[in-house]
Amino acid sequence: MRTKIVAGNWKLNNTKEESKTLIKDLKKAIEDKKLKNTRVIVAPTFVNLASSVKTAKKSKIEVVAQNMHQAKNGAYTGEVSAEMLKAIGVKTVILGHSERRTYFNETDAALAEKVNTILENKMETIFCFGELLEDRKADKHFEVVESQLSNALFHLKGADFKSIILAYEPVWAIGTGETASPEQAQEMHAFIRSIIEKKYTKEVADNVSILYGGSVKPANAEEIFSKPDVDGGLIGGAALKVADFTAIIKAI
Ligand code: PGA
Repeated sequence: MRTKIVAGNWKLNNTKEESKTLIKDLKKAIEDKKLKNTRVIVAPTFVNLASSVKTAKKSKIEVVAQNMHQAKNGAYTGEVSAEMLKAIGVKTVILGHSERRTYFNETDAALAEKVNTILENKMETIFCFGELLEDRKADKHFEVVESQLSNALFHLKGADFKSIILAYEPVWAIGTGETASPEQAQEMHAFIRSIIEKKYTKEVADNVSILYGGSVKPANAEEIFSKPDVDGGLIGGAALKVADFTAIIKAI
C-alpha cells in the first residue's frame, strides 16, 4: 500500500515563534486522529528548522527543508548542505519547487545533482515538477512533465525511488486559487505512473507516492484525494492555518 502524505510548504513565512505555535497547535489538532499510513509534514524556512524539529519531537509531525545545495561543502555563499540538515534531524528535502525553478533558476541538471546528493546521504526528497499555463494551453503538459522527470530523475535505479516522493504541481495552480480539477490531477498522476512503469517496473510505479499541489484547500481536498493515483498533497497557503491544514489532513 502506498503511503499517504500531507505536506505543508511554508515558503517564506513564519518567524521562530510563529513556527513553534503552528506546530504545537497542529500537534494538538491531530493527536486524536487516526492517521495510519499517513505522514504529516511541514517545511519551515532554514533558520527555523532546528527549533521546529525540537517542537515536533514525539509527535506525528515531520519537519523537512524547502531546499538544499548539491555540494558537500565549499564556497557557496548562502547555501545549506545535506550534512548540515541531517545534523539537525532533517531527513527530507523539497526539491525543484516551481518557485525555485522560476526565481532562482534551478535547472533540471542542477536538480539531478541535488537528487544524487540526497541519495548519497540516505535522505529523502519530495521532488516537485509541473507545467506552466502556456504548456497546458499548447497541449504540451504531458511532454513537459515527462522531460522534467526524465532529465532530473531517470538516471536513477528503480530502488532509489524508495527515497523519492513525487509532487505534481501545475504552475498555473500554485497560489492562484485555481486548482487542477480532480480529473486533470488523476489524468496526470496516472500518466506519471505509466512513464515510471515503462522506464522501471510496475512495482516501482505502484509504490511511489505522487502528491498533488496547487491551491489545495479544505473545500477541494477530499475530491482530489479521492482519485486513485493521488496519494496526498503539497499544500502552500492553506498550510499556514491550523484549521485549514487539519481539515486537509482529515480529507486524506
Ligand atoms: P498553494 O502552493 O497551495 O499556495 O497553491 C502549493 C505549493 O507551492 O506547493
